[in-house]
Amino acid sequence: MRAQLARDFARFARELPRDFATYVRETYRINLSARYLGFDLPHPIGKGSGQLSLNESQLEADRAAGLAFVVLKTVIAQDESGAQTMAAWAIHETKMEVEQRASASGLDGWTVTWKGRGWDRSFEDYLALVRTAADLTRDGGLIAVPSVKFHLPRIDEPFREAEYRFTTRALANAWGAIPLPLEKDFSPTLSGDALADDRAQILRWLRDVPVQIRAAAPVRLAVKLMNARFDDAFQLEMLAAANAADTLVVFNRLFDADRGVAYGGWDLSDRNLRVLDRLRALASPLGTARPLDRLLCGTGNIHTGRLILDYARRGCSAVQLHTFFQLPLTEYPATAGSRTQRVLHKLVFDPDDGLVAGMLDLEAAGHLARRDGELHFLDVVADAHRPR
Ligand SMILES: Cc1cc2nc3c(=O)[nH]c(=O)nc-3n(C[C@H](O)[C@H](O)[C@H](O)COP(=O)(O)O)c2cc1C
Repeated sequence: MRAQLARDFARFARELPRDFATYVRETYRINLSARYLGFDLPHPIGKGSGQLSLNESQLEADRAAGLAFVVLKTVIAQDESGAQTMAAWAIHETKMEVEQRASASGLDGWTVTWKGRGWDRSFEDYLALVRTAADLTRDGGLIAVPSVKFHLPRIDEPFREAEYRFTTRALANAWGAIPLPLEKDFSPTLSGDALADDRAQILRWLRDVPVQIRAAAPVRLAVKLMNARFDDAFQLEMLAAANAADTLVVFNRLFDADRGVAYGGWDLSDRNLRVLDRLRALASPLGTARPLDRLLCGTGNIHTGRLILDYARRGCSAVQLHTFFQLPLTEYPATAGSRTQRVLHKLVFDPDDGLVAGMLDLEAAGHLARRDGELHFLDVVADAHRPR
């Protein structure tokens, strides 16, 4: 199988088969099926919200490459008059720098430095993109899910219900079916904002935002949590407070207060994996009796199959990447194909640190057993949630 993997890696560098998950199942007897926000996926790899999901042609390239899901760029909510309480997040900024960043552990990783924030075109334009996303999702080619940032009040203020109501209903109408799948972004620039200085205020948002959204329309809700500027124990408090969500995306980028920018790299994955380790060690994670597998979606510095498995072994049934799609083309071993194909080629087939190699290694180490002759990605996830 290792020799086969080396051959496939070389051959798929020129062209990745779109249905590579079926190929992996037939060739290696590895079932990569995964879950995100109630959707069954052929494999766990999706694209996180950002500048790479702004238009139909980007979605089409991702569909053609065989990506499992995409989260659309975050739109800033508005009420029926067009007023946006989070308007400061709807700024226009085009310049992005893809750069190396050294981490506290001494490793260099990639980060994208960018001062922009949310969707900066009209709300009508966003609704048109949501209609396209819904069509792609219904056709079965690609799951594409909208993302929103809504009003976040200070602790002594009420929620602007009109903003939640108008935006959620408009998105639900554009989606055209029940329920609307939706991500709610608590972004890193928010954790750099004075609004997020108060722990009680953040915990109230996490408890009440799902209630506000669900009062407006039937929604399947993912909450994308930020890395707040507090300690790891507070990250766990945030997870427990947000436990009414259907999926928790863990965790958006760190915030560099000196430079005033969000960042990723190894500091981000080190922190995220450390907090997920602590979550797994709790007797009653999130303070609920509901099953945790299929609840978590990982994000942060994922650029190898092994990192996908690091998140899966801590309970994430899918992952969403962003930075790895933006590297210079010379960083990918593939010599042809779209950027998305090159990313998938490296993540899945790299004989050293790809997903297939990592699953075979887990089997060899006795951490993963075949069922009916197959290794299952979701067994890695389920094992993370078994009481220990
Ligand atoms: C330039 C850029 C823009 C982003 N914009 C958004 C956004 O609008 N909404 C959101 O939820 N996440 C946004 N993200 C976060 C990514 O979706 C992702 O979760 C995060 O960067 C961690 O993954 P990565 O290390 O693979 O980039 C953005 C990230 C980058 C680098």
